[in-house]
Amino acid sequence: MRCLVTGVAGFIGSHLAERLVADGWEVVGVDCFTDYYPRPLKEANLTRLRDESRVRLVEADLGTDDLAPLLDGVGVVFHQAAQAGVRASWGRRFADYTHNNVLATQRLLEAVKDRPLRKFVYASSSSVYGDTRDLPMRETSLPRPCSPYGVTKLAAEHLCELYRRNFGVPTISLRYFTVYGPRQRPDMGFNRFIRFALSGQPVPVYGDGEQTRDFTFISDAVEANLLALAEGVTDVFNIGGGSRVTVNHVLALLEKLMGVTIRVEHQGRQHGDVRHTWADTSAAREALGFVPKVGLHEGLTAQVEWQEQMMRES
Ligand code: NAD
Ligand code: UGA
Repeated sequence: MRCLVTGVAGFIGSHLAERLVADGWEVVGVDCFTDYYPRPLKEANLTRLRDESRVRLVEADLGTDDLAPLLDGVGVVFHQAAQAGVRASWGRRFADYTHNNVLATQRLLEAVKDRPLRKFVYASSSSVYGDTRDLPMRETSLPRPCSPYGVTKLAAEHLCELYRRNFGVPTISLRYFTVYGPRQRPDMGFNRFIRFALSGQPVPVYGDGEQTRDFTFISDAVEANLLALAEGVTDVFNIGGGSRVTVNHVLALLEKLMGVTIRVEHQGRQHGDVRHTWADTSAAREALGFVPKVGLHEGLTAQVEWQEQMMRES
């Protein structure tokens, strides 16, 4: 019952680690606190975990540090660490993506390949699909990413497949679709919409706002990781929240929830942004029993409450 959670100080990793501890796991959590967003936010994500006796937190870089000490007695790896963010992956910052997404994953797979692991769960991404009209997105479609970020997430997913086929590492990749909820990264859409609206600033909308996302609430993404431990199940699965709506729909819902009028400032469509995502989750339902439980209204309410509280405390 000892597992490793990489990216433990991040949005998804910190929620996952809390759930694992609550379920009785011993958690080794690793993070190197990349500067993609401010460290104090990541420290805040760790607040509850720091009080847990069954959690060991280690500051280390998966791309450079010795990984053996992290893996002592570990039966399951939940690999959440990455350089996330679609739109920031062009230009000079691409080196962060190759280091934290490709090299870090390859080094981790090398480090586990001779160990008796029960499962290696990789946090993949809907961004591997690219801008397709073939909707809903199915795992059997040919992935054709349209951002450098998506290229690195797909490369790491392929590495997981290679280490499974060649060395028997029991890898499973979960392609998350735009995850939201308390602790969502500050560069992500909902966080920005709510933050700007709370401070009375116009909300930046890329393009016409008619793009859609299959938004997934954090607890559903976390649950998928637990379900991914199902005996003998490997391969690649879509993890979507079943809440596919436009950005404009989200803004209208936020106006109702927050009781404010949101001023929108349209900006150009961003390189790397796909027009639509929509997850076909039937494979995850059949193989893992995955069924998303939290709808957009409930999930957005939770995120708004968290951001309002953050603002009061700041
Ligand atoms: P996040 O940035 O909040 O968390 C990632 C954490 O990984 C950060 O704390 C960072 O410091 C750490 N990290 C990065 N490189 C590292 C390295 N080399 N060594 C150790 N730690 C490192 O991001 P998130 O939104 O929680 O995303 C978690 C995972 O889920 C990522 O793999 C991301 O690609 C994937 N994903 C996220 C979403 C989403 O909507 N948030 C959707 C699809 C996939
Ligand atoms: C998100 C995550 O950020 C990626 O790490 C992840 O891999 C990806 O989901 C995924 O599903 O794989 P994205 O869908 O771009 O990427 O999520 P948001 O940043 O929350 O953006 C959602 C939508 O809002 C996008 O259409 C974006 O163009 C739009 N948006 C975002 C705006 O209009 N304005 C903003 O200020 C921010």
